[in-house]
Amino acid sequence: ITIAAVVPAAGVGARMGLNHPKQYLKIGDKTVLEHTLSKLANVPRLDKIYVAVSETDGYFAALDLSALAVTRVTGGKERADSVLNALLAMQNTPPDWVLVHDAARPLVEVSDITNLIEQCLTHQEGGILASKVKDTIKRGTSHSEETVPRETLWQALTPQFFPYQQLLTALQQARQNKLQVTDEASAIEQAGQPVRLVSGRSDNIKITTPEDYALASFLMSQQSK
Ligand code: CTP
Ligand code: MG
Repeated sequence: ITIAAVVPAAGVGARMGLNHPKQYLKIGDKTVLEHTLSKLANVPRLDKIYVAVSETDGYFAALDLSALAVTRVTGGKERADSVLNALLAMQNTPPDWVLVHDAARPLVEVSDITNLIEQCLTHQEGGILASKVKDTIKRGTSHSEETVPRETLWQALTPQFFPYQQLLTALQQARQNKLQVTDEASAIEQAGQPVRLVSGRSDNIKITTPEDYALASFLMSQQSK
């Protein structure tokens, strides 16, 4: 079976509050995007890596990605549009499965990616890396109205791994019905199809705010030891 990776990297990083997208922040001597792509390049099961980059991106072309053999595709307005564009770009040579992983998650471990792929292929159903919620969770606006039992709550991570055709159809349906899709799994759920939860490391954080960037820099320095 063939597997393609899709890395959505077309966001502007508004919540980071900088004047350039967070995927181009440096950790050590490499950008966040390069760290992420190197992790994927070390997954033997991946046949091809597509990166969705904004049309107006002024940074991607300057990276030296020659060792990584990645294909640039054009991103879209929302994350789901970037992923859908990437899937459409591979329509002529479609892979059997696609693995979607945020550019902003450079800390993912290769062993977690491999585990997700193996578990999904064994059970022949799509799935995502996720970690069990650890905090006590409250519902409310100005005051806590309720403590939500956390036994069945998970934090969705990436990668998210689905059969190519299934994900393509689900994302197209979600767009047509104007459904809110913040990850691939939400499109699959809305199509009434199963999403396997595969437990992954909770330090596979998404760099969203300056605090995340500080934490990610520290964790990355520990990983490379
Ligand atoms: N992404 C994308 N295309 C978009 C929006 C987001 O490819 N139109 C990517 C981002 O580059 C990131 C991943 O999706 O790697 C996760 O999205 P998020 O953390 O929300 O990144 P941004 O949208 O860039 O950040 P913000 O929401 O703070 O603007
Ligand atoms: Mg965003």
